[in-house]
Amino acid sequence: MSKALLNSNIKDDFAIFEKKILNKDLIYFDTAASAQKPKIVINEINDFYNNHYSNVSRGVHTLSVESTFKYEDSRKKVKDFINAKSDNEIIFTKSATESINLVAQTFCERYMKQGDEVILSIMEHHSNLVPWYFLREKYGVVLKFAMIDEEGKIDLDHFSSLINDKTKIASITHLSNVFGTTTNKEIVKICREKEIFIMLDGCQAAAHNKIDVQDLDCDFYVFSGHKTYGPSGIGVLYGKENILNDLPPYQGGGGMISEVTLDSVSFADLPAKYEAGTPPLVEAYGLGIAIDYMNSIGIENIMLHEQELSNYALKKMKELEFVEIYGNGNEKSSIISFNLNHIHAHEVASFLDVEGIALRAGHHCCQPLMRHLKVNATSRISFGVYNDIKEIEVFIEALNKCKDFFKK
Ligand SMILES: Cc1ncc(COP(=O)(O)O)c(C=O)c1O
Repeated sequence: MSKALLNSNIKDDFAIFEKKILNKDLIYFDTAASAQKPKIVINEINDFYNNHYSNVSRGVHTLSVESTFKYEDSRKKVKDFINAKSDNEIIFTKSATESINLVAQTFCERYMKQGDEVILSIMEHHSNLVPWYFLREKYGVVLKFAMIDEEGKIDLDHFSSLINDKTKIASITHLSNVFGTTTNKEIVKICREKEIFIMLDGCQAAAHNKIDVQDLDCDFYVFSGHKTYGPSGIGVLYGKENILNDLPPYQGGGGMISEVTLDSVSFADLPAKYEAGTPPLVEAYGLGIAIDYMNSIGIENIMLHEQELSNYALKKMKELEFVEIYGNGNEKSSIISFNLNHIHAHEVASFLDVEGIALRAGHHCCQPLMRHLKVNATSRISFGVYNDIKEIEVFIEALNKCKDFFKK
C-alpha cells in the first residue's frame, strides 16, 4: 500500500458504511455533492441537543451561555481552518449559495451602478451564476465570462483581457466541481494589479486542500459545511474585515442590530451584522467538530490520499477505450467527470447503483459548461477520506460490465 493512502479502517468512523445497498457494500463516490458524516459529528450534534441546547447570544442562563460558547468556538475553528485574521471575518450562513448571494447583493448595493461589470467563468456552478444574473436583471450590471483551457482550468490570459475600468469584482471557482482542477492563485494577483475585488468559491476545495485565505489574498471565500464532513444547513462566508465593515447589511432581524427605535436602526458589529435571526447554531457546532475530525487526520494527509486515489482511477479509466474523460490534464483533485460511449450518464449511474456504487450523473449545476462541452450530462466520481483503491477496482470492473450490458 502506498504511504500516501490513509488507513482503510477510517471507514469505521462512518456509520453509513454499515449499510448495504442492494446487498452490496456501499462505495460512496459522491463526496463532491455531499460528504458522509463521521459518527463523532452526529454524536456531538445529539449531545448538543440533549445536554446544552438553547438560543445563542440572547440569555444569561447556563444553557444559553454554553450554546453561545460552542457556537463562537466553532467560528474560531473555521477561522483557524482557513487561516483568517480574525473571528469577525467569519460569517455563518445556511450554505455557500447563501454566502454568494449575500456578497453579490451587498457588494452591488455598495459599489456598483448600471453598466459596471462582473467577471465569472463558463464553468461556474449555478450558485455562482444565478445570484449575479439577478443583478444583471435588476440593476443592469454586465456579466462577462472567462473561458477555460483544454485541461478545464481558467484561461488566465482571457480572464485578464476581460478586465477594464468598469470591472468591479470577479467571482470564480477555486476548484471545479466538474473537472477537479484548481484555479491558479495567480488570478488573485491579476485582480490586485487591476484593482478589482475577487471572491473564490471554495465549495469543492475546502474539504480537499489546505485553505489559507491570507496567502490567497482573496477578498471573499465561501464554502458549505456539508461538503467538509459537517452537517447540512451551514455555510461559511469569509470576507476581509475592512470590506465587510464597509458593506451594508444583508438581511434584517434580531441579532444584527445595535439599536432599534420606531424611526431608525443601527447595526451590530461584525460578525453579528450579517447573522440576522437565530443562526444555524447546532449546524455551526457540527461543522466545528467536522473540522476537528479533518485536523485529526491532517489536511495534508487527506490531500495526498485523494490525490493517490484520483491518479489511480484516472490511469485505470484512461485504459478503457469506451470512456471519455472531461478535462485532458492529469490534475483531478478528487473529482473525475466522464461519459461512456453511447450510454447516457443516468443509465451509467443507475447501473452502478445496483453494484453498490453511488456516483453522480447530470449537469452538476453547470449547464453553461455542459453546453460548452457539447454534452447534456456527465457521470462524476469524487473521493473522500473513506475511499480506497479496492473500491476503484470494483468501479472499473463495473464500468466494463456496464459497457457489455448496454451493448446487448
Ligand atoms: C463549486 C460549487 N459551488 C457552489 C456550490 C453550492 O453549494 P451549496 O449547495 O452547498 O450551497 C456547489 C455545490 O455543489 C459547488 O460544487
